[in-house]
Amino acid sequence: MLASQQINLSEQLEQDGFLVFEDFIPGSVCDHLVDYMKSMLANADFTALKTAFSTKTHKHAQEKYFLDSGDKVRFFLEEGAINEAGELTVAKELAVNKVGHALHTLDPIFYCFSHLHQTISIMQAVGIAQPEIMQSMYIFKQPHIGGEVTAHQDSTFLYVHGKPITGFWFALEDATVENGCLWAIPGGHHSQLKSRMIREDDQIRTDIYDETPWDLSLMEPVEVKKGSLIVLHGLLPHMSKENTSGISRHAYAMHVMSGMDKFADNNWIRV
Ligand code: FE2
Repeated sequence: MLASQQINLSEQLEQDGFLVFEDFIPGSVCDHLVDYMKSMLANADFTALKTAFSTKTHKHAQEKYFLDSGDKVRFFLEEGAINEAGELTVAKELAVNKVGHALHTLDPIFYCFSHLHQTISIMQAVGIAQPEIMQSMYIFKQPHIGGEVTAHQDSTFLYVHGKPITGFWFALEDATVENGCLWAIPGGHHSQLKSRMIREDDQIRTDIYDETPWDLSLMEPVEVKKGSLIVLHGLLPHMSKENTSGISRHAYAMHVMSGMDKFADNNWIRV
């Protein structure tokens, strides 16, 4: 990649808050990842998951299941997908909201996909020196039940002292308004960080710096075709709405920082 292109992409991300690369991943690769994840799900043992989520006072167990997932491949359920007896209320392949947070290191297929040369080149081109992937998620956004992800900035959850964390969001299927595509406030990353999720031992809390709610009327849909890559500035306000359609919206997301910068010690993921 030419030095001038690198400056342009880096400047463009700073200016707009997000970038869209269409036809970034071949459709056949997307299909392969979707099929591979389906086979992972089919072979997954949900016993521990059911235990963690089955009791009435499960908030702590759920938090612990989440907090310990930074270096594991764990399944997270859609709300209401399990009842108090620990039984799934929908088919296993429809019950999962996402899989996280270390597919990029622990799973050989996702390791390869996460480290594709063309993706690393984009990381460098947007100004991430010595890129390091801090977490990964496979997101299902199931037909009819895939829930809303409310407006947020990724830096709230993964704070970096230096260049803010950068999101890499791959559409493994078409993402439309109907099936819950990303929405973002163009230029919204120029505002300050509104909150931070802080971890102290096994407790998490949210520190609020600005209580003003996001002006959701400024959110614009970012509809993309399967195979597209969306790069998100860590301070960009973004969200996704419920999937009201009968079509799934699978995506793979990674969050990346520069190895030259410092990952905050009190992020929920410990490194
Ligand atoms: Fe996000």
